Amino acid sequence: SEISYVMIKPDGVQRGLVGEIIGRFERKGFKLVALKLFQCPKDIAEEHYKDLSSKPFFGALVEYILSGPVVCMVWEGAGVVKSARKLIGATNPLEAEPGTIRGDLAVQVGRNVVHGSDSAENGERETALWFGKDALVSWEPALAPWLIESNE
Ligand code: GTP
Ligand code: MG
Repeated sequence: SEISYVMIKPDGVQRGLVGEIIGRFERKGFKLVALKLFQCPKDIAEEHYKDLSSKPFFGALVEYILSGPVVCMVWEGAGVVKSARKLIGATNPLEAEPGTIRGDLAVQVGRNVVHGSDSAENGERETALWFGKDALVSWEPALAPWLIESNE
């Protein structure tokens, strides 16, 4: 089923927002299937953001992602990619709606505390990049029947 790669960026970790951010995805009702604290090497950051490599801010972006540990997560569920992007909010935190993570917790595009995959395809690609193959945990949350009408 659909997965999104979600990452708390170094500013989110340094600011003590890890619990706050994970809690929002937990409370929404998606299923956590991978989680780690990680000091990212340069090649992974560059590969992750390779589509932005021609942008003037690319060097600063990679430096930002390398500037401290990040929290890497994979969340699973029908519609999780689009919904995670809605929970996260607009790229520029000043444009992000109140109630979203960036809208509530950040003020600048270069310090926007969290990443979420922008397509199901990128959810798979980024999960493979940050966790490798077979890293996902297969489990059935006890509360699943209270969140999801059918497993079909
Ligand atoms: P991610 O979830 O991190 O991929 O953000 P996004 O999908 O909302 O935006 P996008 O993929 O276009 O850009 C990736 C990241 O690059 C953003 O989250 C910002 O951290 C950074 N970024 C984007 N635009 C700018 C910019 O104009 N200036 C700076 N400094 N950083 C930018
Ligand atoms: Mg993006």
